[in-house]
Amino acid sequence: MNRIEVKEALNLEAGENLVNLKGWVRTKRGSKNVSFIALNDGSTINNIQVVAENNIAEDILKLIHTGASISVNGKLVQSKGSGQAIELLAESIEVLGVANPEEYPLQPKKHSLEFLRENAHLRFRTNTFGAIFRVRHAMTFAIHNFFNQKGFSNVHTPIITGSDCEGAGEMFAVSTLDKVNTPLTEEGGVDYTQDFFGKETNLTVSGQLEAEMAALALGKVYTFGPTFRAENSNTSRHLAEFWMIEPEVAFADLNEDMDLAQDMLQYLCSYALNHCREDLEFLDKRLQEEEKHKKKEERQEMGLIEKLQFVIENDFERITYTEAYDILRNSKPNKKKKFKYLIEEWGADFQSEHERYLVEKKFKKPVIITDYPKDIKAFYMRMNDDGKTVRAMDVLFPGIGEIIGGSQREERLDILKSRMQEMDIPEHELWWYLDSRKFGTVPHSGFGLGFERLVLFVTGMGNIRDVIPFPRTPKNADF
Ligand code: 4AD
Ligand code: MG
Repeated sequence: MNRIEVKEALNLEAGENLVNLKGWVRTKRGSKNVSFIALNDGSTINNIQVVAENNIAEDILKLIHTGASISVNGKLVQSKGSGQAIELLAESIEVLGVANPEEYPLQPKKHSLEFLRENAHLRFRTNTFGAIFRVRHAMTFAIHNFFNQKGFSNVHTPIITGSDCEGAGEMFAVSTLDKVNTPLTEEGGVDYTQDFFGKETNLTVSGQLEAEMAALALGKVYTFGPTFRAENSNTSRHLAEFWMIEPEVAFADLNEDMDLAQDMLQYLCSYALNHCREDLEFLDKRLQEEEKHKKKEERQEMGLIEKLQFVIENDFERITYTEAYDILRNSKPNKKKKFKYLIEEWGADFQSEHERYLVEKKFKKPVIITDYPKDIKAFYMRMNDDGKTVRAMDVLFPGIGEIIGGSQREERLDILKSRMQEMDIPEHELWWYLDSRKFGTVPHSGFGLGFERLVLFVTGMGNIRDVIPFPRTPKNADF
């Protein structure tokens, strides 16, 4: 007999044909004469109700608890109960795997997200995480779709990198050297010539520099890979291992870069609305429940679906760093000293409290800040004529803060070299990067979208640890 999935079964009519469904038991309830089993197989957030009457042996039913896996043969019948149109009247049930209720951590009740993080290996089996990871998949697919439709080539940039100059964050070392008897140089440093690659290597913090090389031949490229940052930031927005999407476009200036970023984010939000409706409706309700427990002034004004719709329908606000600085300096929370970090001197980086003020209070929509002071941005960003700011952009989202960071790149060899000198980046390490400015250089731009921050936004979840299957954060690499 052919197995069908729950998603398909729930869309069928009642019929005489026997069908087979397999899945995991969410709940079992009932009386002596009849049991009702909620069965889920991950194909949809919805369960199918399996009705087991007296024809199913007592000793089989006794093995069926929350978490057990079963295979059911039966007929799809019109449901007598409310809540579902169709249910499965069992003719035979095979228990594939038991789950001892004394030991199985997931009970048919609401568990805290903290508890589920400690049981990340099982949390896929809850409604919330089933929905999150189906949405995460849909976003992966939609990203490739978006770039493919626009004629971009996906490039796979290295995960182990031999250049540590990007400056995007602290790095994780990759080495096979003996940790106890580490070979040393005459000066007493580690002798990396004896290491696997014959030089110091790390896990990448970004694929950008390599992606630029590809863009300067293929025209339009993007990367979608894991990135690693050994920063000790224990926040709800940071992971030590996260996924990043980095498009890079030859002949594009920063305005085109911003257009691409807005286009992509709007496409992804509308893809989610069109393809993940049931999961989003579930997550929307979940969010509304969460909001009820918050103080009134901390509550979000919009529901999840409303928020996605809003992003699709509204142009993002574009302002320069200096404009944002003026707004923040004269803002109420700054004058009343409500910000933890007060805005005083021009040139300081904005903190997330400032970003959230601009997005959530001032403009009430996504904001793109451009033209940051050069000293708080990377060496490769294009210098403006004022000599003080660079052609950078950060896209800020409600509830998230920075979701995208990007820039127009410095394509002028002499200016790039002097920026590297200013920032103590040795030319010989980036000889290949400088070559691209020596031979056929062109204006070009790109950005990086933090994939988990996108999934946070689209699912309405509050902690980045809950939108990646097995999060890596300081002091935590379980599973
Ligand atoms: O702003 P970032 O550091 O930019 C770059 O790495 C550039 N090379 C991108 C480019 O122009 N090609 O990182 C880009 C995005 C951030 O806006 C944020 O969404 C995400 O990556 N991000 C993180 N997400 C989770 N955990 C972390 N520790 C993150 N650090 C950055
Ligand atoms: Mg950034």
